[in-house]
Amino acid sequence: MRIVIAGGHGKIAQRLTRLLVARGDTVVGLVRNPAHIEDLRSLGATPAVVDLESSAVDEVAEVVDGADAVVFAAGAGPGSGAARKDSMDRGGAALLADAAERAGVRRYVLVSAMGVLEPEAAEDDVFVTYLRAKAASEEDLRSRDLDWTVLRPGGLTDDRGTGRVLLEPRVPMGSVPRDDVAAVIAGLLDEPSTIGLTLELVAGGDLVDAAVQAAGRGEPGDASSDAIDER
Ligand SMILES: NC(=O)c1ccc[n+]([C@@H]2O[C@H](COP(=O)([O-])OP(=O)(O)OC[C@H]3O[C@@H](n4cnc5c(N)ncnc54)[C@H](OP(=O)(O)O)[C@@H]3O)[C@@H](O)[C@H]2O)c1
Repeated sequence: MRIVIAGGHGKIAQRLTRLLVARGDTVVGLVRNPAHIEDLRSLGATPAVVDLESSAVDEVAEVVDGADAVVFAAGAGPGSGAARKDSMDRGGAALLADAAERAGVRRYVLVSAMGVLEPEAAEDDVFVTYLRAKAASEEDLRSRDLDWTVLRPGGLTDDRGTGRVLLEPRVPMGSVPRDDVAAVIAGLLDEPSTIGLTLELVAGGDLVDAAVQAAGRGEPGDASSDAIDER
């Protein structure tokens, strides 16, 4: 498969790139900073310089053309203000969807975030704005005629992945290693039965592939404290 990853130099994106390249996929990583080009090449990806807050749809569509799927793993990131939550976290995701539609690429995996259902519960104003932007990006994607999957991870960590997760439409708030988020995205890209689903993700007891397949069948995961303890 040919996969285009927006936010190609991000922490999840780099982990995902490694996994996809290792299984023989072709990865195009979108970066806004030319200084990141070499890092992507060293991972085996093809870099493309695209700023998702200032590019025209046609420019992005040109890069996306011929892909089997796009993944939105970009984000304004910590320290960015409320304006960039809208221009990047909402607007960038919408621009990628516009480009996918224009290029005829149907599959779109959006990395959203847990908490979008209750943005007002967040403690600071910028985080409320971030969650609203993520909620708007989800709503926008669902309104499109694309083969979308929305993935809402809990709090991201740089801990080593366990290969075990809890992946369901609603899960209790928790955290999840970026390694495991990347593995779940790689699984979602391979599993058409997850098209049209919104799935929340935290650390758990289910093997990633089994969790993705169960989610596609609409079955609850079998994560339990026993399963986690047995690791
Ligand atoms: N942090 C959490 O706990 C959490 C929880 C749930 C979901 N998420 C979401 O998970 C996703 C990925 O997380 P992560 O930790 O991998 O993020 P990350 O390392 O901060 O990566 C985000 C990437 O987006 C890029 N980006 C920013 N503005 C851009 C623009 N205008 N055009 C193109 N690219 C741009 C950044 O590039 P530069 O290096 O050039 O800035 C960076 O490479 C994000 O959507 C985030 O909102 C985060």
